[in-house]
Amino acid sequence: MHPAGDRTAWLLGGDATCHDPGPRPRRPWHVILLGPPGVGKGTQAARLVGELGACHLSTGDVFRAACRGSESTPSPAMAEALATMRRGGLVSDDTVVALVRERVRCLCCHHGFLLDGFPRTVDQARALDAMLAGVGTQLDRVILLDADEPTIVHRLSGRRVCATCRANWHIESHPTRIDGVCDTCGGALIQRDDDRPETIHVRLEAYHAAADAVIGFYRDRGLLATIDASAPPAEVFARIVAALPGAAPGALLH
Ligand code: AP5
Repeated sequence: MHPAGDRTAWLLGGDATCHDPGPRPRRPWHVILLGPPGVGKGTQAARLVGELGACHLSTGDVFRAACRGSESTPSPAMAEALATMRRGGLVSDDTVVALVRERVRCLCCHHGFLLDGFPRTVDQARALDAMLAGVGTQLDRVILLDADEPTIVHRLSGRRVCATCRANWHIESHPTRIDGVCDTCGGALIQRDDDRPETIHVRLEAYHAAADAVIGFYRDRGLLATIDASAPPAEVFARIVAALPGAAPGALLH
């Protein structure tokens, strides 16, 4: 199981169902996490899942899960998406929107959601609006995590991921007790293909080419909260909780 809850329906799509999604929250939260690669979206999502009881819906995780499911040959669109991802570029809007549409029931799940990595373009944001309207779900907040480029490059180049349970570590700011071994499950730590120095800069450029328009899209709708994410994870987390409408920092939300 993913350390932050069962996300089988999201990761596999189709008819797959979650077996152990965790306790049902008092209210479902519908939150988008925006921000550059490596700013800490996944780190904060894992914490927020525990606090809000919402599901962590990451489009990047769907692509990585498809990459690992190597028994079946990926569709041409998925093969192209995975090649684009390895280069650090953005996957086409058509492919990403089709992937989310296939998982639309996750957008009306009674656990709520934390969308991470989607939408990344205005066309994706418009498509999401239409999907949410179709299932009668309204967004509560769009959180933009912000940090300067040296901080981001440092976070990405030092990130290590457990090959078994996918837990996220950092060689300096969040190291494991034994070098290269996951504290959570004992699995081997690996570096993501797209965390290599030559790819990090391509990813940052791809992000910046589309980000301002998406940020403006949600600012115009009064949903955007910008958080300085350069602080340690616990502090960033407290800032995010304080930016959620009706939530008190430190209070258990579900
Ligand atoms: P995706 O998986 O979404 O990656 P990303 O947006 O590039 O974000 P990351 O997962 O790299 O970083 P993060 O912000 O989650 O940081 P983390 O918490 O791990 O997308 C990958 C690719 O898929 C894309 O490049 C694209 O090709 C494709 N794709 C996906 N969605 C798409 C879409 N909608 N449209 C088109 N293409 C799409 O933190 C990083 C490190 O920093 C960790 O080691 C962590 O321990 C450390 N850290 C985190 N917070 C802190 C802190 N506060 N202090 C110190 N260290 C910290």
